[in-house]
Amino acid sequence: MSLVISPSILSADFAQLGHEVERAESATADWIHVDVMDGHYVPNLTIGAPVVRSLSKIAKIPLDVHLMITDPDRYLEDFAEAGATYITVHVEAATHLQRTLSHIRKLGKKAGVALNPATPPDSLAYVIDDVDLVLVMTVNPGFGGQKFINEVVPKITTIREMFERAGKKDLHISVDGGINAETAKIVTAAGANVLVAGSYIYSASNIDDAIKSLRAAEQPRPNAKIPR
Ligand code: DX5
Ligand code: ZN
Repeated sequence: MSLVISPSILSADFAQLGHEVERAESATADWIHVDVMDGHYVPNLTIGAPVVRSLSKIAKIPLDVHLMITDPDRYLEDFAEAGATYITVHVEAATHLQRTLSHIRKLGKKAGVALNPATPPDSLAYVIDDVDLVLVMTVNPGFGGQKFINEVVPKITTIREMFERAGKKDLHISVDGGINAETAKIVTAAGANVLVAGSYIYSASNIDDAIKSLRAAEQPRPNAKIPR
């Protein structure tokens, strides 16, 4: 899997979001990560489908929409129509996960599942054919700028191996929270191929250098049975 850099606009300047997306694009970002928070599932409020719709008009790269909301089914159509490419729901918030994922695909979008740091990967085994992306949270969701939780790292490898055993070599494994040039080494060695980074990219004095440093940090996965 080739490495994907997905800057999180949560740490961007919300007064100039269009410009912030363009800055990431000219610094060779692959996707734009959009954090949607409802004040219920996580203790923070951010943006909804209207902002995604406006961003989709100017973004040249895919919008990677991370729904940190309860009852995500209510809003899937809104985010699909707004122009999301990936729609990721939290496993802890989806009552009928397989139904939700197949709904996302029926809307013509890529289906993602996010797991909080303390959530085991077991339920993924029952939706292996329905998922395009697994988002492994490496902080508790809700805020940018938090500290990377090391204990989550083995879960990345477990998920990569689970999907490889099922012949799903093209699964995207995304990591979100506390990603910088140091933690990027750890998570890519564990099997992640999508790096979501908010504060590391948008607080950098030079956005090009920040993204380059994430690409340079990529490590091969030791003892991988199937080459990546
Ligand atoms: C946290 C969000 C993240 C956040 C990451 O709940 O899902 O996408 O923007 O921010 P950093 O990279 O600063 O940890
Ligand atoms: Zn996120």
